Amino acid sequence: MRGVIEIPDHLTPVQERIEDALVRVQRAFDAQLASELAPVGELCAHVERYRGKMLRPVLAILSGMAVSPGGEADTDGIGADLIGLAAVCEMVHMATLVHDDVLDEADVRRRGATINHLRGNEAAVILGDYLIAGAYALCASIGRPELDLRIARVSMDVCAGELLQLSHGDDFSLDEPTYFEIVERKTGALIGVACELGASVCGASRVLASSLYDAGVDLGVAFQIRDDVLDLTGRESAVGKSVGKDLEKGKLTLPLIHHLASCAEGERAQALELLARCTHPENNEARARVLEGVRETGSVEYAQRAGAERVERARGVIAGLAPSGAREMLDRLALAVLHRSY
Ligand code: IPE
Ligand code: MG
Ligand code: MG
Repeated sequence: MRGVIEIPDHLTPVQERIEDALVRVQRAFDAQLASELAPVGELCAHVERYRGKMLRPVLAILSGMAVSPGGEADTDGIGADLIGLAAVCEMVHMATLVHDDVLDEADVRRRGATINHLRGNEAAVILGDYLIAGAYALCASIGRPELDLRIARVSMDVCAGELLQLSHGDDFSLDEPTYFEIVERKTGALIGVACELGASVCGASRVLASSLYDAGVDLGVAFQIRDDVLDLTGRESAVGKSVGKDLEKGKLTLPLIHHLASCAEGERAQALELLARCTHPENNEARARVLEGVRETGSVEYAQRAGAERVERARGVIAGLAPSGAREMLDRLALAVLHRSY
């Protein structure tokens, strides 16, 4: 987590505990996907490269630590169930990323080639299936059927969010409530479930686990808003993945929805025409003009403010937890979500 947030000295023990736990998460992840078939192993090795901040495992583990008796909770070490659950969340996430890059026709992720770019859509589709099936197998091996149900349902939520987004391709009348419906499902839900199940595996009450679900969804939405801002304004070399994909695919995101809504009467038709031009190849000039317009209407700032509201709501839930190093770390992570540049 170092590099994502600044960690003061007094949180070093929490940090070390998380890092040890993440090594175990990776081991569980790799063991689940291991195959004696070389082509399968190669593709899985490539997916390893997508591993970044491990946000979902980190949130699951921190949520578990934060709700355990005694605050720090880790006197007995972090249990195998929590490690398994953290690996499951990461595997579901990886499956959805491999498929998402097919949907978005993205060539670059984590500064490397996407599976679809490297091996084609066929391999990416079936590898995503391999990952999602692996996630369910790993989840079932934990031996808590309530987790299986939750993980299966949240995978459906993620897919439903992506399907809803697809159904609004080239829909320049997409409104804010529909945008939030999409991102709550495609990104918020899995992050919410990582927090919720991390806590419930460690003995949290249903009410507490469900408030952590809400906090996780809010953080996920804020995370996606930032992702959408970076897709619009970032450069591939800085962000580390393909950018400009939303405009190219005719996907309206929060800054663009705000921009269209705040254009002066006579300017809206022109803004719509520019957006339509962005969906054609060689759209650099149109893209630059859209960005100019977005700057004039203060739409990036608007989106950042909407994200900040979600972060503050999540921090309210975090503040209600018993004081502990894990709680402080959760709070610091929440604050970092909107300021990342990759
Ligand atoms: C990410 O959506 C995919 C899911 C959350 C399932 P995006 O297409 O907006 O995100 P990136 O930028 O490719 O990671
Ligand atoms: Mg994408
Ligand atoms: Mg996408």
